[in-house]
Amino acid sequence: MASATLLRRLLLLILVATSVAAAASVDVTSAVAGQIRVNCGASVSATDSDGREWAGDAASSGVAADASYEDPSLHSAVPYMTARVFNSTYTYSFPVAAGRVFLRLFFYPSDYGDRTAADALFGVAAGGVTLLRDFNASQTAIALDLACIVREFSLNVSANSAVHVTFTPSSQHHYAFVNGIEIVPAPSDLFDTNKPVPTVGRPDPTPLRADTAFQTMYRLNVGGAAVLPSDDSAHLYRTWAGDSPYILGAGFGVSYGKDPNVTIQYGPSTAPRYAAPESVYGTARSMGPTGQVNLNYNLTWVLPYIDAGFYYLVRLHLCEIQYPITRPNQRVFDVFVNNRTAEKAVDVVAMGGGIGRRRSPTTSSSRSPPGRPTS
Ligand SMILES: *[C@@H]1O[C@H](CO)[C@@H](O)[C@H](O)[C@H]1NC(C)=O
Ligand SMILES: *[C@@H]1O[C@H](CO)[C@@H](O)[C@H](O)[C@H]1NC(C)=O
Ligand SMILES: *[C@@H]1O[C@H](CO)[C@@H](O)[C@H](O)[C@H]1NC(C)=O
Ligand SMILES: *[C@@H]1O[C@H](CO)[C@@H](O)[C@H](O)[C@H]1NC(C)=O
Ligand SMILES: *[C@@H]1O[C@H](CO)[C@@H](O)[C@H](O)[C@H]1NC(C)=O
Ligand SMILES: *[C@@H]1O[C@H](CO)[C@@H](O)[C@H](O)[C@H]1NC(C)=O
Repeated sequence: MASATLLRRLLLLILVATSVAAAASVDVTSAVAGQIRVNCGASVSATDSDGREWAGDAASSGVAADASYEDPSLHSAVPYMTARVFNSTYTYSFPVAAGRVFLRLFFYPSDYGDRTAADALFGVAAGGVTLLRDFNASQTAIALDLACIVREFSLNVSANSAVHVTFTPSSQHHYAFVNGIEIVPAPSDLFDTNKPVPTVGRPDPTPLRADTAFQTMYRLNVGGAAVLPSDDSAHLYRTWAGDSPYILGAGFGVSYGKDPNVTIQYGPSTAPRYAAPESVYGTARSMGPTGQVNLNYNLTWVLPYIDAGFYYLVRLHLCEIQYPITRPNQRVFDVFVNNRTAEKAVDVVAMGGGIGRRRSPTTSSSRSPPGRPTS
């Protein structure tokens, strides 16, 4: 239940593999136009280790501060080593064309100036939606065992509008801070809000509204390594994490890359290139070749830190990339979410029309499981 305005988005990538195919594809790469990056607390622009250029925010109020310590695990000093610190509510306004955007907030918990890391506690709102409430970046970083945190949201900006991002300390004893803000316009059909999404464990599909805001919870490259923002397709700068830390127990299955003679085909009848890069569709994890063994176990990913009370959209990106799986009925499997059937008899070759042809089904769920493929 609970159609919260903020719909958490859980991106889960499952790549299954099979046969051949050819055809070079047209790159639908969006222009980098319209992208905004702010290195908060910096007075001049700077380039991060991925080559992204970040502007300073000297015109903002709040206090510009340097982090007190550079954690060796920081991937890049920009935008993390400077912050904008707010004792009271502050709103950034960014001009953005109407449509969906990714809004990413970058946080590096540290002491800033005379404020200790432990006193940071704040909320963030944008587009009329609460994105973070009583956010304790230190606590979150400790829980995730990370030095820095990126929170990614997808918002639909209404016509002739701007994105207003508001930081509010939780009390007068607390403060808000932010190290970086990134806005990346997204293709309008990156996911389809016009079609209701099947709801796992329930007969009725879940309608998605055009103005629904999403938070990305997980985006995994199954069977492959992490994909850094600079290696994402269409300059969307998404991060795709490796999936192996999330696999339950010893049932790891078999991870593999595409056969060398398989070409991943993007195009009108399958997924567009911006759906996911080749490094995502070109790796997969299967249960292995032995049917009798596979009947005796489930290949399961466990995704922790999911809050109850929200709907979660689960998207599975599928592409058969492994010989000899070239025909329907050779590799068929069921998908369960939280022990409930989300999808019966998935046959990627049949869905995609052949080896190397992608399919990105969508699924939704509340506190329980998801549904089944769309487009
Ligand atoms: C913010 O609050 C802290 C703690 O109360 C105080 O030391 C600091 O001077 C304040 N900064 C500004 C700019 O008001
Ligand atoms: C934030 O979390 C850290 C780590 O758990 C804790 O030490 C700190 O007191 C918390 N701060 C607030 C304001 O709750
Ligand atoms: C954004 O919302 C408007 C109406 O509010 C809708 O017409 C449009 O299709 C939405 N855009 C996307 C990409 O969902
Ligand atoms: C591609 O390679 C596989 C072996 O890895 C082979 O079985 C298959 O016939 C090859 N397909 C084409 C079209 O060359
Ligand atoms: C799924 O079922 C197993 C076995 O009954 C149980 O241990 C597990 O907690 C269930 N998982 C969920 C998410 O309900
Ligand atoms: C796999 O998971 C499903 C859903 O929880 C369950 O019904 C089935 O018994 C499991 N199979 C095995 C072999 O554990």
